[in-house]
Amino acid sequence: MTIKSKISQLIKNDLSNAQKLQEICDILKSNYAHFHWVGFYFIHGEKSELKLAQFSGKPTEHSIIPFGKGICGQVALSNENFVVQDVMKQENYISCGIEVKSEIVIPIFQEGKNIGQIDIDSHDRAPFTKEDEELLEFVCKEVASLNLQSIIKQDPS
Ligand code: SME
Repeated sequence: MTIKSKISQLIKNDLSNAQKLQEICDILKSNYAHFHWVGFYFIHGEKSELKLAQFSGKPTEHSIIPFGKGICGQVALSNENFVVQDVMKQENYISCGIEVKSEIVIPIFQEGKNIGQIDIDSHDRAPFTKEDEELLEFVCKEVASLNLQSIIKQDPS
């Protein structure tokens, strides 16, 4: 089974949203050698910030990211994919460790609204391809089909 069909099937099954998002992180991380950290950030209630949801990889202290800050915060405002093949060249960047060399962030839209994103860090320089970007856009569309209200409209603490 392809990764895409695995993910489509997972989205439709009986697990909780948290379990589905966790599985997606784990599947992506374990199937792509250049994906060293895979996580989802979602908008945090009415606040102008992102909150970390499920992830696979090393725990990060950056569980809250203000809109506009770092690669993730920039995507919250730009509504566009952001492929950073060399994080050293990106001034507005929040480091999660010296081993991270590159990062890709793809926004998730529900009814045209940017409600979150998938974020992937790599320890390799310039590893991301057009195919990766296309796969991750697919993943984000699948995730957008879930009812994410309880994640987005969480108690804003
Ligand atoms: N590097 C990100 C912060 C989140 S971590 O990669 C997990 C950024 O610049 O927004």
